Amino acid sequence: MDERAKRVYIHTFGCQMNEYDSERMGGELRAKGYVPVSDKKNAEYVIVNTCSVRKLAEEKAFSLIGALSAEKKVIVAGCMAQSMKEELFKKFPRLTAVVGTFKISRIAEIIENGKKRAYVDERSESYSGNIERKKEAAGFVTVMQGCDNFCSYCIVPYVRGRERSRGIEEIKEEITAMARAGYREVTLLGQNVNSYYDKKTGLDFPELLRETARIDGICRIKFMTSHPKDLSDELIRAVAEEEKAAKHFHLPVQSGSAAVLERMNRRYTPESYRERISAIRKAIPDCAITTDILVGFPGETNEDFEKTAALVSDVRFDSAFVFKYSERSGTKAEAFGDDVAKEEKTRRINYILGLQKKISDDIIKRDEGKTVLALGLNVSSKRPGEIEMSVDSGKKVFVRGSADLIGKMVKVKLVKARGMSFEGEII
Ligand code: SAH
Ligand code: SF4
Ligand code: F3S
Repeated sequence: MDERAKRVYIHTFGCQMNEYDSERMGGELRAKGYVPVSDKKNAEYVIVNTCSVRKLAEEKAFSLIGALSAEKKVIVAGCMAQSMKEELFKKFPRLTAVVGTFKISRIAEIIENGKKRAYVDERSESYSGNIERKKEAAGFVTVMQGCDNFCSYCIVPYVRGRERSRGIEEIKEEITAMARAGYREVTLLGQNVNSYYDKKTGLDFPELLRETARIDGICRIKFMTSHPKDLSDELIRAVAEEEKAAKHFHLPVQSGSAAVLERMNRRYTPESYRERISAIRKAIPDCAITTDILVGFPGETNEDFEKTAALVSDVRFDSAFVFKYSERSGTKAEAFGDDVAKEEKTRRINYILGLQKKISDDIIKRDEGKTVLALGLNVSSKRPGEIEMSVDSGKKVFVRGSADLIGKMVKVKLVKARGMSFEGEII
């Protein structure tokens, strides 16, 4: 082995954008002679790519960093690095470096430099195209980053900065390279993809979606996240018309109470949210719709909560991520006080989870027996002998078969629902 080779293990917390950033760090490191490894035992360096969105995510990262910093050279990257900066050295004096969200592509030089520093300024962000993707047939591409919405509970605008879009040419080059390398599915990522705007050409997100659909080899396009206040008819039309666009919207509602939404600074009402859902279903009758829900926001009364439950019953989401409110320092909601009792948050989250599970089970069962086009993604890690495939709605189907199926679109019968996915058979 090359004697310069240094082994690096990357541990990823948080959302898909963080997964993509970890893949970028892996690619940068490989390009500069480091060796990304999948087992931290053999690694000299460990990069912990962190998330700040809830307290629990931070606590998990703290315990991992604490456990590793005795024996490894540990670099903290990502959202917590961006928010805590030098403070991280006070908490963990042995850290090697702190790498914020704007410096992901510079990871290799930062390690090479060996300076014990926090790299957190917001200048000269770049995407080099060196990416070591985890999966063989489906991959992420960040198209815009940052957020100007400042929902009162949310740390993301502080850790990902203001909204900025990548140039459409650069994005298309990256996806074209993916297609040449055998990728068939791409997920376009942004905190609010509806705000995508290419300065040079003036193209917006629906146009980016249509341009992506023209790339040979790519056969399925997903995207997230859309903010309900910005979900345009144009985008709905693009998803309806573009055959390659997965028929799925992830549209976080957070709450069904107008008063809570107002204090969250979401800038839509339960009525306008329901109207957007109707617009999607009118244009795309079988469209999958998923959401995020936050329970126990400051001042959320039982009545507010019941409005959320009613919205969940009425809208009938395919699935929902439900979170307990977690106070984040520096956000506007911090001043509201975290006044819903812990046990009450637990009761509310369990109620919504139970309600949603029945709905999800119901919806998924309706598709049993249907024949659909499915795309082979990878060999299932949990189920030997099975291939994980994705269908148009974004759901997964597992079929018996060989690795030849990876990257191929084939007809599959959805034999039986199994939790949130299907057992299927190749036709
Ligand atoms: N940009 C996306 C995703 C934001 S983070 C969007 O606007 O929807 C993903 C989810 O985490 C949010 O939708 C919200 O439900 C949840 N979340 C954000 N801040 C939180 C907090 N302080 N406590 C609990 N959940 C939170
Ligand atoms: Fe956070 Fe709101 Fe921005 Fe989403 S839209 S990232 S919830 S501030
Ligand atoms: Fe994602 Fe967490 Fe950062 S949700 S943007 S990794 S704070």
